[in-house]
Amino acid sequence: MSPVRIEQATVATDELRTALERLLPQLSSSWSGFDEGDLENLVADEATCLLVARNDDGVIIGTTSLLCAPIPTGIKALIEDVVVDEAARGLGAAKALVTAALNHAHALGATSVDLTSRPSRTAANSLYVALGFTQRETNVYRFSLEH
Ligand SMILES: CC(C)(COP(=O)(O)OP(=O)(O)OC[C@H]1O[C@@H](n2cnc3c(N)ncnc32)[C@H](O)[C@@H]1OP(=O)(O)O)[C@@H](O)C(=O)NCCC(=O)NCCS
Repeated sequence: MSPVRIEQATVATDELRTALERLLPQLSSSWSGFDEGDLENLVADEATCLLVARNDDGVIIGTTSLLCAPIPTGIKALIEDVVVDEAARGLGAAKALVTAALNHAHALGATSVDLTSRPSRTAANSLYVALGFTQRETNVYRFSLEH
């Protein structure tokens, strides 16, 4: 049985903010932190399911987000921002988080779930393959919008 508990974060508590501010820099060194209202908007957004993993002591040790929204061809589902605290890795937290996101997407009617992961993220790529994700032959593009 998984030693972690997964739950959806629906309230922008100080505990959640502190946990995400500890976790997200471990995912992206360029993450610049939350601006005022960002976390409140995130937990309130209908298309986003913010999941957190708690250890036996109730401490938040990981997170991921599932984006799910209708498009003409069905329900588009994307898993983003998977990260587990360095001190809590190898305990199955990421597996539990991604599995919970897949179950949530299924419950919302999605027939597939997409994600991307840089090849250099060895642990993450192994995790996704172990969970049954298969690689798609497609080009991933990004257009940068300056603000
Ligand atoms: C990737 C990451 C989320 C995995 O978190 P974790 O909680 O340690 O992963 P789990 O314990 O749930 O491991 C599940 C599976 O992932 C794979 N895995 C996890 N860590 C691994 C490692 N260091 N090397 C190889 N495979 C690994 C294994 O298949 C593992 O299954 P197993 O334990 O039965 O062998 C974590 O290493 C992390 O936060 N990395 C930095 C951020 C990141 O790269 N995020 C992904 C963005 S796409």
